[in-house]
Amino acid sequence: MTQKAFIFDLDGVIVDTAKFHYLAWKKLADDLGISFSEEDNEQLKGVSRVRSLEIILQMGKVTMTDTEKTVHLAEKNEDYLSYIATMTSDDILPDVPRVLHFLKSHNIPMALGSASKNAKQILAKVGLLEMFDAIVDGNEVSKAKPDPEVFLNAAAKLSATPANCVVFEDAIAGIQAANVAGMYSIGIGHREVLTEAKQVFKNFTEISTQFLEHLIQKTA
Ligand code: BG6
Ligand code: MG
Repeated sequence: MTQKAFIFDLDGVIVDTAKFHYLAWKKLADDLGISFSEEDNEQLKGVSRVRSLEIILQMGKVTMTDTEKTVHLAEKNEDYLSYIATMTSDDILPDVPRVLHFLKSHNIPMALGSASKNAKQILAKVGLLEMFDAIVDGNEVSKAKPDPEVFLNAAAKLSATPANCVVFEDAIAGIQAANVAGMYSIGIGHREVLTEAKQVFKNFTEISTQFLEHLIQKTA
């Protein structure tokens, strides 16, 4: 049997941090006089921090210098981190620990593949840092999803062939990145949104042990 490796996105897959990103971006948007709703926030899922700011500025037709952007990005992150500081293992999304422990008990190599520069801090706060054999985060990649760089780096760190990797993602760009990398993409969210994923589940509660066994045994 070929050894499989599993790669997980962080935000929206392992933890629901979108609400914290929203609060922090909303504060900045309010300060800048830009209207920004929770629906607008959907557009920022899976998108890098700097690109998220650019999208918000476009929404409000506001322009600023690179220096101003740097200042606002730092403010936003400081605000975001004040929410992260409150996180505990209770903030792990339902049934994620069950799936991680199942894979761990079968000695399946596991990596995190996230755009977030705060990934390690978040994993530490919720007590999952030790669960992953490798972590590739926003500090290590130069090209954002849908570029496959983050997932290819994660596979390399696990010494896994891309065709043997399974990726869990909640963002369209993340599913595209996994597909371009030649990996098996599993969407967490809505089927109508994640149309390019090989399989879609609403959440981890929907993922059965039998399905995980099937993934582990599946030939590429
Ligand atoms: C992604 C989130 O995982 O990370 C995005 O879905 C976020 O919303 C991006 O902008 C970067 O995160 P951070 O923590 O580096 O600002
Ligand atoms: Mg995500």
